[in-house]
Amino acid sequence: MAESEATNITWHQATIDCTAREQLLNQKGCIIWFTGLSGSGKSTLANEVASALHQNQHLTYVLDGDNIRHGLNKNLGFSPEDREENIRRIGEVANLFADAGVITATAFISPYRADREKVRSLLESGRFIEVYLACPVEECEKRDPKGLYKKARAGEIKGFTGIDAPYEAPEEPEIIIDTSVLNLEDSVRKIIGYLESADLI
Ligand code: ADX
Repeated sequence: MAESEATNITWHQATIDCTAREQLLNQKGCIIWFTGLSGSGKSTLANEVASALHQNQHLTYVLDGDNIRHGLNKNLGFSPEDREENIRRIGEVANLFADAGVITATAFISPYRADREKVRSLLESGRFIEVYLACPVEECEKRDPKGLYKKARAGEIKGFTGIDAPYEAPEEPEIIIDTSVLNLEDSVRKIIGYLESADLI
C-alpha cells in the first residue's frame, strides 16, 4: 500500500517555500504527535495546546483519530494493516500541514513504534515532537469516556488497544506525560515550554 504505483511523475518545486510561510506566520511548522491508549487524554490535550497557542496568535490545526475516521480514513478498520495505513495517511497529511507552516497536533493511538518512526522520518530533525501520554490502562479504563473498554471487556469489540491488541510505548519520546498525575493546565504548560525552548514558537 505504501509503495508508489505511479510512474512518469515529476516533483515540482513550489515558488513560495516553507521558510517564506514561516516568516509570515512567525512560527515553525511542526507536528506535535500525541500517542497513547484510548482515554489517555490525547484529544483533550491536543485541543488545549492548540487553544493556548491560538490565543498567542499562532496558527494551529488538530487532526483527531475519531474525526479522520469519519472522512479521509472511513474505509479503514482496526486490523494491524489498517492501523498502519491510518497512520501512514495521517503522517502524510500532517507533514503537509507542517510544511504549510502550521503547528499541527495529532491525536491517534498510533500503537506501532515503526509507524510513528516512519512519520518522524518525513520531517526535518526537530519538527516531529512525540508526546507519549503514559496513562496506565487501569486509569484509562476507569475513565472510559466512550464506554469502549466496557464493550471490549464484554467481548463486543475485538482487538481493542490495551485489552487484546498491543500498544508499543515510545522509547525516546520528546515529552512524556502521565495524565493520571499531571493536570491539564500543567500538561499544556509543559508542551508549550518545550516548543519555546526548541525555538519553534
Ligand atoms: S489507531 O490505532 O489507528 O491509531 P485511532 O487513533 O485512529 O487508532 O482511533 C482510535 C479510536 O477509535 C479510539 O479512541 C476509539 O474511540 C475507537 N476505537 C474503535 N475500535 C477500536 C479498537 N479496536 N481499538 C482502539 N480504538 C478503537
